[in-house]
Amino acid sequence: MPHSAIINVMIKAAYRAGRSLKHDLGEVENLQVSLKGPRNFVTAADRRAEEIVREELSKARPDYGFLGEEGGARAGPDKSHRWIVDPLDGTTNFLHGIPHFAVSIALERNGVIVAGLTYNPANDDLFVAERGKGAFLNDRRIRVAARSRLEEAVVACGLPHSGRGDLALARREIAAAQRNFAGLRRFGAATLDLAWIAAGRFDAYWERDLSPWDLAAGTLLVREAGGFISDLGGGEAILSKGQVAAGNDTMHRELLRLLKEAGRQRAEEAETA
Ligand code: IPD
Ligand code: CA
Ligand code: CA
Repeated sequence: MPHSAIINVMIKAAYRAGRSLKHDLGEVENLQVSLKGPRNFVTAADRRAEEIVREELSKARPDYGFLGEEGGARAGPDKSHRWIVDPLDGTTNFLHGIPHFAVSIALERNGVIVAGLTYNPANDDLFVAERGKGAFLNDRRIRVAARSRLEEAVVACGLPHSGRGDLALARREIAAAQRNFAGLRRFGAATLDLAWIAAGRFDAYWERDLSPWDLAAGTLLVREAGGFISDLGGGEAILSKGQVAAGNDTMHRELLRLLKEAGRQRAEEAETA
């Protein structure tokens, strides 16, 4: 399928970084048995992947700005364009040799995401979208799931971990999800959670405490697949607030309602504690 020039640039960068990560995943699997474990090795793999992506993107668009998880923000002469990159999303999965991780690249033009890509090197799932041109998985057009019955829905989430986040709120949100949905999943790579919403694999997804590089490509994938996506108050401040709720119209609306009720219960609990 013919892609635009900018998508081809993004694909080339993601594939090159993906080859590096796929090679490193093999080494990580060997290092699992070492006492020290592969943490330092994964940090190096992460940084190597970002350097590869940055090198490829700046070769093609030298004047664009760059925001990467590992290297931070670098302004370019062209102030209207910025790459937003997570070179390895799902680091903990990768660290444990779990083949569910991704390279995610988004292009922002005057504050609007106009192109997005999320690529899992472990299974070669390549999700791409350009504003106004649809969303694709391995060149096949994708759309969000059409399900409207909550009791048939499989829902993804992100959960507090490593001492971060409001555990009491999460417990109430999980309880609400378990009462209403057919299944709850926590797969550990936010960029793929959003890509799987766009592909209709998950019916809804929510998470807090995310970074712009976790969200940028996925917001476009979901919208171009006919989905609805917002911050947890139903607004547009997804990247700035670092929070997301996504699904088809019904699932997105019902998920926001359930999370709002869980938040009200949490606030009541805090008042009476
Ligand atoms: C993480 C993953 C995870 C999410 C975390 C993110 P990283 O990204 O997306 O699913 O729950 O909040 O930090 O650190 O593996 O790039
Ligand atoms: Ca990430
Ligand atoms: Ca990352």
